[in-house]
Amino acid sequence: MAKLTRFGVSMDAGLLSAFDDLIERKGYANRSEALRDLVRGALVETQWGAGGGQMVGALCIVYDHHTPDLSSRLTHEQHDYQKYIISSMHVHLDASNCLEVVVLRGPARTLQTLADRIVAIRGVKHGRLIMTTTGEGLA
Ligand code: NI
Repeated sequence: MAKLTRFGVSMDAGLLSAFDDLIERKGYANRSEALRDLVRGALVETQWGAGGGQMVGALCIVYDHHTPDLSSRLTHEQHDYQKYIISSMHVHLDASNCLEVVVLRGPARTLQTLADRIVAIRGVKHGRLIMTTTGEGLA
């Protein structure tokens, strides 16, 4: 583990009380661990927003496989971006609906473009891209 540095934080009492409630709800052991997670989250978002660096992500979509052309368009998009796709999982939720999780690795901007193209396909009911990193530099 990297060397720890202690620092003081001044905060409005009401804000600190709300933070403590959040810590309790989320099950953090202490304020330090919660604060470290918030900082890491902000750094990952900033890296993602800047569009740079190698990122990994999970695209989760739900769709009705009866929608005309949907399955072939999904396959087509994924083949176009195959070098950024590590793996995918397909679950048949019921007679009509499918859940697919596509695990991605590559530049943030490219992964976001692929996710946007897939979510925009007619028949995709919901889609969400979760972007993260391996955590290097975020100890
Ligand atoms: Ni299915």
